[in-house]
Amino acid sequence: MTNAQQDSELDGQFYKAADFFFPEHADTALTYDDVTLATLYSEILPGDTQLDVTLAEGLDLNIPIISADMDTVTESRMAIAMALNGGLGLLHYNMPEKQQLTELIRVKTHIHGLIQEPIKVAPDQLIGDVLKMIEESKFGFATFPVVDASGKLLGLLPGHVVKPRYARRKVAEALTPRSQVHTLSKKEIASDPIARADRFFNDHPGIHKLLVVGDDDKLHGLFTMSDVERITQEKKAQFKPARDARFRLICGAAVSATRNAFGELDRDRILAHVGALHERGLDVVAVSTAHGFSKGVGETVRMIRDSFPKLPIIAGNVTSAAGVQFLAERGANAIKVGQGPGSICTTRVVAGVGIPQLTALYVAARAAARSGVAIIADGGISKSGDLVKALTLAQAVICGGIFAGCPEAPGQTMEINGKHYKQYRGMGSLAAMKAGSAARYGHPTAVAAKVAPEGVEALKEVSGSVDSVLTQLIGGIQSGLGYLGAANLAQLRAKACYTRVSPAGMREANTHDIVEVKAGS
Ligand code: XMP
Repeated sequence: MTNAQQDSELDGQFYKAADFFFPEHADTALTYDDVTLATLYSEILPGDTQLDVTLAEGLDLNIPIISADMDTVTESRMAIAMALNGGLGLLHYNMPEKQQLTELIRVKTHIHGLIQEPIKVAPDQLIGDVLKMIEESKFGFATFPVVDASGKLLGLLPGHVVKPRYARRKVAEALTPRSQVHTLSKKEIASDPIARADRFFNDHPGIHKLLVVGDDDKLHGLFTMSDVERITQEKKAQFKPARDARFRLICGAAVSATRNAFGELDRDRILAHVGALHERGLDVVAVSTAHGFSKGVGETVRMIRDSFPKLPIIAGNVTSAAGVQFLAERGANAIKVGQGPGSICTTRVVAGVGIPQLTALYVAARAAARSGVAIIADGGISKSGDLVKALTLAQAVICGGIFAGCPEAPGQTMEINGKHYKQYRGMGSLAAMKAGSAARYGHPTAVAAKVAPEGVEALKEVSGSVDSVLTQLIGGIQSGLGYLGAANLAQLRAKACYTRVSPAGMREANTHDIVEVKAGS
């Protein structure tokens, strides 16, 4: 036997591939901190690694990270930030269906190269009405094209006149007239709209809005300089925003297996809502419950699949091969794995049920490979190293707690003893279930105080923006790939070798015997 063969045999004896390692530990369920990954020969620099993943036909992410469908984590602001970084946000469902639709629309209209249906005002409207519209729709802008009843451009209402002081004046009295408004014709922007708009803004210092008109001078769209600049910058970023075929940011939304007053699955309501979301460009629906291997969830997935054959479906949560198979057979494309690993979860304590996450992922991943579906590791991620370990088995990861302290998460910041916090609560906490998530845990919607909560209400210290949190997480994943000689996520899954870690080994892994003066991140 050559030296090289002996070395490889020695390594193989201690550092084992998933198909040897996990069956050998079948009698003890393991999670992230129970194992470590072995380094392998590498020619790959972290910065050169690719992190893109396809979760279903038409659902492509540029980084494998998804923000959780929780009411203290993902609404439109979070979903926009996630998609701009190449990931995905799942809008939670603890809000009226109409509001979830509005949140989706906010994401899908966030940046257009050309805003094809800009918000317009009429000449006989009062400025006061315009102010009311801005407040009600929470617009972050105040400049509007003015059009007549046929859609013909009459001028531009500049933001500096949309003030309470002018509330009683008509738009017609305050607008910049058509003759002074900068426009391009549809023909002029035909070949490369962004490049043309970029050139226009270069040539017209101080002009931030550019309108597009047809031959009949009817309004056909609007460019804003900030959108154009952001899109131009995106071309240089390593991880590009996750966009759909029409260049809109991608967005997912969660639904639950809602029941009607008779305790039956509320088919009409679920289908009408998913239909409305689908119509507004929803990229993926997540049938999100605590127990995905159940009749109601299976029926919900099948019903959505039958009605919307091409809409990607995420479903869960499960922790068994049979659970994966069940949801895959009913039409799910990606299966959420995780029962009880979440930082705010008490399912394992309350119900005595749930599987430590790495073992659950291994079992689910092998079943998923047979069924041709993807696996998403949901919950329990507290550091980027956990992400790397999860991605040795799963195609993507869902994080809640890691993003709950970001400014983009819903909720106010509160100050306690000089420190700043945001609320973070389990969707199975009593407060969240009262707000609507009871169905997720198999309880009637009007939840009684007698129900045993499976999550807690907590606080997270305020963190940096989603951009900065993701920079750290992505950097960690790329380092992990570099250590394993993996150029992409598929190679990471194929190459990973594991070993158990002793409690002393775990202590050794963290900083020790020092006085830390500056935290690593
Ligand atoms: P992390 O660890 O990222 O976990 O904070 C987020 C995930 O936890 C799940 N989740 C819950 N699980 N009781 C549970 O047992 C709950 O109240 C609860 N709320 C959320 C969910 O899968 C989420 O993505």
